[in-house]
Amino acid sequence: MKQNMIAILDLGSEENSALAREIRAMGVYSEIYPHDISADTLKAMSNLKGIILNGGPNNVVDGVKIDASADVYACGLPVVALNHATSKCSKLDKKDLKEFVFDVCKCEANWNMQNFIDDQVELLRKQIGDKKVLLALSGGVDSSVVAALLIKAIGKQLVCVHVNHGLLRKGEPEQVVKVFREELGATLIYSDSVDRFLDKLAGVEDPEKKRKIIGAEFIRVFEEEARKLDGIDFLAQGTIYPDIVESGTKTNKIVKSHHNVGGLPDDLKFELVEPLKYLFKDEVRACGKALGLPDDMVYRQPFPGPGLGVRCLGAITRDRLEAVRESDAILREEFAKAGLQGKVWQYFTLIPDTKSVGVKDNARSYEWPVVIRAVNTIDAMTASIEHIDWALLDKITKRIITEVKGVNRVCYDCTPKPTGTIEWE
Ligand code: XMP
Repeated sequence: MKQNMIAILDLGSEENSALAREIRAMGVYSEIYPHDISADTLKAMSNLKGIILNGGPNNVVDGVKIDASADVYACGLPVVALNHATSKCSKLDKKDLKEFVFDVCKCEANWNMQNFIDDQVELLRKQIGDKKVLLALSGGVDSSVVAALLIKAIGKQLVCVHVNHGLLRKGEPEQVVKVFREELGATLIYSDSVDRFLDKLAGVEDPEKKRKIIGAEFIRVFEEEARKLDGIDFLAQGTIYPDIVESGTKTNKIVKSHHNVGGLPDDLKFELVEPLKYLFKDEVRACGKALGLPDDMVYRQPFPGPGLGVRCLGAITRDRLEAVRESDAILREEFAKAGLQGKVWQYFTLIPDTKSVGVKDNARSYEWPVVIRAVNTIDAMTASIEHIDWALLDKITKRIITEVKGVNRVCYDCTPKPTGTIEWE
């Protein structure tokens, strides 16, 4: 391993991630561990240079105040204890943190993407040997970066499966095939399952039912593809560090379950490969960029798993789905031209299942409205709307009503979250 490391032991702080990020920003790698990790486990980490016991308000678990084990204090590595709850003064300021990391622990600032990639390639080759790895490649940032990293490490031993469920944005399935199969030489199975998904979804209005159908069908298609293959031992997943930290260390109150391809049947048993599980989102993007993935893949805005399925409101129909896809492509194109790509957190179009009256070519029209949603947020729990420039809105509106079939009206959604969620379904 090339990079030095500082371990953060979670003694109930709410700022473990922030601290890890601060240390990484200094060029030193850092990971978060539960408070009761053993000294032996820590000592076995050959690149560990120092330990921070990160105390805070959640330091009582099951009625008992928690602490690190005595062996950790005596393990021979530099240890410092912080407590964010009781006294602000005991929080290390940046200068003290730097001093601890560089002067006391004698870390080198050697955490960078190239070293991370080199280390991961070495670890992946060791873990996988000459076996095969399966990956569900959606084309999202995380699965794309996992694929690129695995291609670098094990080449043809990686088998990617791209399921086109018909609910992806314009150009996405084509881009996945072009980048991974043609440019990176990956073994890529492309499953055209558009009709299968749309048939299953026909007439289904309830958003949660739609989500369930899309999720379950995805697993089914992926499982069918997996069964056709021989000799796969590993399943790669795009799990990233916030998924792990948020799923709860022992003191963490936020519990979310994160499964990328959860729900595979028991007889399909794979060992997991999760090479991004210690990276924050911006580091995943930097990794993708260092691996040569195109910018519009690496800096993609968030996109829900059920895709355009929850933006074609109510029962999905092919005409509205196509109109959502086309209008979304226009919106993205114009936002990119206006320099807003990567600046506005999420922007997309959706189509309600109600028509409105209009006039087109001197005749009455009765067609779909397109709604534009553009929001900014830190954590998607609350969001504010983008104060879009009127001239840009005019331009997008004109393009949508002239270029998209079946649409006669464009609206801008001015609702913050709360009260509106980001998606409409
Ligand atoms: P809401 O609509 O809840 O969205 O304000 C918050 C963020 O979550 C995304 N989202 C989803 N992502 N599967 C996903 O993977 C889903 O079913 C889903 N629903 C919403 C949404 O796009 C926004 O970024």
